[in-house]
Amino acid sequence: MRVVILGSGRGSNAEAILQAQQAGQLGRARIVQILSDRADAGILLLGARFGVAAEFVDPAPFRTKLESEGEARFIAAVRGCTPDLVVLAGFMRVLKPGFLNAFAGKIINLHPSLLPCFPGLDGIGQAWRRGVKITGCTVHRVTLEVDGGPILDQAAVRVEPEDTLESLTAKVHAAEHALLPAVIARLSEAK
Ligand code: GAR
Repeated sequence: MRVVILGSGRGSNAEAILQAQQAGQLGRARIVQILSDRADAGILLLGARFGVAAEFVDPAPFRTKLESEGEARFIAAVRGCTPDLVVLAGFMRVLKPGFLNAFAGKIINLHPSLLPCFPGLDGIGQAWRRGVKITGCTVHRVTLEVDGGPILDQAAVRVEPEDTLESLTAKVHAAEHALLPAVIARLSEAK
């Protein structure tokens, strides 16, 4: 199963996926490409470390969504990899029908809350400020509804009295690092 990872940030989830692959824990999945909409994203540095192609793709002209020329560039870059699965690991752009239809049924996203609670930006901060006692992370299929597609799996994280936003953030990230590779491995075995 050929997998392309899209991310905008430091890439700790992409790193967890690549580590799982190195450890033989990613089933029949193989990471073939990392793409980022930010030239300075840490996720791109993983390419050299893990021997995977990693590239910046210009997302212009929009700031928070992927549409028109930027969308076309991403579609071409992803298509060139002939992926079976496109993994959004901290890709901070809203996808539009052009991209979604090009890879229909093949895109999954990681979100740092127990959806449908706290969709959108800063899922961990939203949960923290709301004072919930259990939060977590979700991997779901991507549809036009932002953070609204069918849920594939979730992991729960308890908010302890001694937690701070920082410690909660670390716990949710640790849960993500286990959940996302496990879902990819499972999808690869089901294929
Ligand atoms: C992760 O916590 C992921 O859930 C979140 O971005 C972070 C990326 O971290 N994604 C979203 O909020 C999407 N709405 P990483 O770059 O270290 O993997």
